[in-house]
Amino acid sequence: MLKRAKRYKIPVLVIGSGSNILVNDKGVDGVVVKLTAPCFRKIRFKSGLLEAGAGGLLSKLVRHTLDLNLSGCEFLSGIPGTVGGALVMNAGVSERVKNVSIGNLVENVTAMDYNGNIKILHKRDIEFGYRKSNLSKYIILNARIRLRKKRKQEIRQRIKWYLDYRRSSQELSSPNAGCIFKNPSGLSAGRLIDMCGLKGSHFGDARVSSKHANFIINKGEARAAEVLKLMDYIKVKVKQKFNITLQPEVRIWRS
Ligand code: EPU
Repeated sequence: MLKRAKRYKIPVLVIGSGSNILVNDKGVDGVVVKLTAPCFRKIRFKSGLLEAGAGGLLSKLVRHTLDLNLSGCEFLSGIPGTVGGALVMNAGVSERVKNVSIGNLVENVTAMDYNGNIKILHKRDIEFGYRKSNLSKYIILNARIRLRKKRKQEIRQRIKWYLDYRRSSQELSSPNAGCIFKNPSGLSAGRLIDMCGLKGSHFGDARVSSKHANFIINKGEARAAEVLKLMDYIKVKVKQKFNITLQPEVRIWRS
């Protein structure tokens, strides 16, 4: 399929669960790939490493590791998305909380390039940065991560801690795509937006959350165009007040 898409110059959009992506209201004029087949969701523990299919949900991964008494990925609790998406974006928690991201756990990743060739990428070949990696040029198939044995009770407590933290500080009541902008180095985008007095600002049903200003929630019928307009408005206000240019954290598909 990838080879054909290339031959006929059809764009390919790979999505995890679609939780961190904003698609133009016209949709995608191309091929959308979502790894939902069971073979892409398998999780198994082998030779001291946990192998997780890219299409599996992070919530399932966390539950599975709890069953196996494996600790290290509790911080992924409550993050919506798939293993593949989390790897491409190097999902994690901020330095104020613990400063850990999924890239810290990776031993190697099996990935397919856009010519259909499968490769194993070792951790030394992978560059993980703040909410980015060089894996975006591949379709991730699975990953092997290193975790350590711990008592179940301790793992359960850590999971609860992360879930409570998210529940208390983040917007979970209306649909959203998580944090909409990246944190500028050493600063919090949410705090900057809040300090501009933008909580509750809206275009149509796209609204800046009153709980956490770096979340844009959909109060019902929000269109991508309204979310983008609100993002532009926020960027202008933050630039005017702090002379800081916010960068989107969500992936935006415009074509
Ligand atoms: N704050 C405000 N007003 C707000 C929001 C936050 O004053 O409206 C303040 C908070 O009180 C806190 C500081 O800003 O002192 C930081 O807020 P928070 O602890 O919520 O963390 P964050 O930097 O906004 C980051 C990640 C989140 C991740 C949390 C927890 C980014 C852009 N955001 O948020 O990730 O869940 O830390 O670790 O890196 C995501 O990637 O989609 C995401 C939500």
